[in-house]
Amino acid sequence: MEKLTIEGGGALKGEINVSGMKNSALPIIFATILLKGDSVIKNIPLVSDVLNALEILREMGAKIIVLDSHSVLINTDDISSEIKAYVLISKMRASSYLMGTMLARFGHAKLPMPGGCNFGVRPIEQHLNGFSQLGAVCNEENGFVSISTKNPLKSTKITLDKISVGATINIVLASVFISGVTIIENVAIEPHVDDLIHFLNSAGAKIIRYGRRIFCEGVKELHGVEHEIYPDMIEALTYLTFVGAAGGEILLKDTNTEHLSYVLDIFTKMGADIRKTKREVKFCSYSSLNGINVTTAPYPLFPTDLHPQFASLLCFSKNGGIIKEEIFPTRFAYVGELQKMGACIVQGNGYIEILPSKLHQATVNATDLRAGAALICAALATHGVSTINNVNYIVRGYEDLTNKISSLGGKIKLLKGE
Ligand code: EPU
Repeated sequence: MEKLTIEGGGALKGEINVSGMKNSALPIIFATILLKGDSVIKNIPLVSDVLNALEILREMGAKIIVLDSHSVLINTDDISSEIKAYVLISKMRASSYLMGTMLARFGHAKLPMPGGCNFGVRPIEQHLNGFSQLGAVCNEENGFVSISTKNPLKSTKITLDKISVGATINIVLASVFISGVTIIENVAIEPHVDDLIHFLNSAGAKIIRYGRRIFCEGVKELHGVEHEIYPDMIEALTYLTFVGAAGGEILLKDTNTEHLSYVLDIFTKMGADIRKTKREVKFCSYSSLNGINVTTAPYPLFPTDLHPQFASLLCFSKNGGIIKEEIFPTRFAYVGELQKMGACIVQGNGYIEILPSKLHQATVNATDLRAGAALICAALATHGVSTINNVNYIVRGYEDLTNKISSLGGKIKLLKGE
């Protein structure tokens, strides 16, 4: 297993190009199952989850040609309706998008329960309820999900009980060919939902989102397109936590500052100096930021995928703060690892209180993707050499991490483990 060593304690300074958004690329790659002909997807982030998604399609018989470092051509015309890449599917949450796409294209899908980052129970009943309301029969048995329909699916109005990115995307994917207008209410409005809608509409779909309501008018078929993935908002914000904790300045390029605006306002309240244009953010902070309390919530509010990194940042703030986790109430496995570095964090039911603390070097274990990013944040801001194990989690979602951190002056090394 690979590990990272980070010699922290120095300020960071430099610029990075933000990569394409993992959580956009994944549904868009699986959505090519709905398209006829060649599609070219650009700004693909080179992260392991995305490479695994491409591999799943390849194993199903898709033609995948790498055009350049961040563009691929995908053609799924000849794929099989039988899914075999069980191991990869069961490692990845986004493989659940095979349910919606296979149902729409073949009328049936059978796959292992999707995996993904492990922070408690991650149910899929909203996805399955949606498919059932469209007329499909869904069964969960022996770790597999089967969805099928004998008759054409029927358009209807579906209201999600809980805002869910995955359920919103899966029901949209299942609905694109259904005659009439499918209405989905209480939907997630994350930028990756809009990126998928943008992609599908370019391919000929008729989907409109008004606030938390989506109208999907069925079309007969979708054609191949060229599409550029939106920039990764979580990657961009993660780098701001690194610089906010270690001190320094960073220019984020190729980003979309509208997607970042809620958190940028928080950083400003904490005392960071922020200048932005539509595509770039200049962030500067050479002294400890002020503490603040935040609560995670669906977009456009504070993202759960920034919570662990923000907890690390708050360890180095003037007066700490409280983070309430409202999306995944048990997303706290990283806390024990930060405590190994001396972080003073008190855990309550669904929240943590972070007190400013002097951290020291330690050997710690990434427990999931964003937890790994949190440990990098802490290590960069802490004097001495820290070691972070389980890099395999971190490369699921951060492209070219060691080079990007090195370009900011961070002393980071990727080592092969024993
Ligand atoms: N939920 C249900 N039932 C469902 C689906 C969701 O109760 O059928 C609950 C979840 O347990 C959670 C909430 O609804 O409490 C929101 O979950 P959501 O469905 O939105 O999450 P997801 O689609 O499984 C995506 C991202 C996650 C990100 C969440 C929340 C992908 C591949 N994953 O997961 O990303 O944390 O949305 O924004 O898009 C990450 O990138 O590190 C990551 C974990």
